[in-house]
Amino acid sequence: MVQTKKSVRKADQYDDPKYNYQDYWTGREYEHAAEEIAINRLLKGQHFKRAVDVGGGYGRLSKLLAKFADIVTLAEPSQQQLDIAKIYLKDTPDVERKLLPAADLKMPKGSVDLVLVVRVLHHLPDPMVEFKEIARVLKPGGTFILEFANDAHFLNRIRYGIRGKRVPRTPVDISSPEHRGEIAFVNHHPKTIIKMLGDAGFELETILSGSNLRSPRLKKVLGKRPLLALEKLLQPLLAPIYFGPSVWLKLRKL
Ligand SMILES: C[S@@+](CC[C@H](N)C(=O)[O-])C[C@H]1O[C@@H](n2cnc3c(N)ncnc32)[C@H](O)[C@@H]1O
Repeated sequence: MVQTKKSVRKADQYDDPKYNYQDYWTGREYEHAAEEIAINRLLKGQHFKRAVDVGGGYGRLSKLLAKFADIVTLAEPSQQQLDIAKIYLKDTPDVERKLLPAADLKMPKGSVDLVLVVRVLHHLPDPMVEFKEIARVLKPGGTFILEFANDAHFLNRIRYGIRGKRVPRTPVDISSPEHRGEIAFVNHHPKTIIKMLGDAGFELETILSGSNLRSPRLKKVLGKRPLLALEKLLQPLLAPIYFGPSVWLKLRKL
């Protein structure tokens, strides 16, 4: 993680020619579809003028976002991801690609109607600067959809409980020992993130619990379609207990 100044804060692995983030998604069709279900549910019946997919990588979800907005900007600090996006998004002409970190979006205040941030927060141990920048560019009443890795998911609470401990409210480093310190890799506690978002000027509208059935065994036994039907049912039902490994928040800029 480069953190010399806020405008260059990014995770370098996405520019490493030896690492292809697009390949990460091979075999993860359930996880991808579960995320699409969450976004479709959170944005159902709405249409926006200007949307930004912040830290959108190669545009995996910008494609879906283009269904909900006239203009979509893929704001991404990795040039490699933007280059892959050029090919991946060739049939989605309404997405413009910009080399930008979340902390410095270089967009006028109140110029954006919808922001999406998915799978980015694990690279940001203290995302307050980024939350404030997103609040700055959003119009009052604008929508912020945020997904992040949940440190307080059900299984983790059991693991901590067995040791007589509580899940920490501070970010937990989950990077492998050999990569520790290179690229930030943290899980967050939902209550900490929700408090920060309130301080940054957002009102919480909806919570969903995501990827609730992420298990190789379940994938094999149930198959993709029944698994996704169940996932769809469970996302709102399990939200109050932050059950899944992923948390979705829909927020309104005050
Ligand atoms: C796991 S990928 C997720 C990409 C995309 N949102 C998705 O769900 O497919 C993490 C992305 O976060 C981006 N990223 C890392 N640090 C960032 C920062 N400070 N600001 C914006 N994006 C960042 C990386 O470049 C990478 O594209």
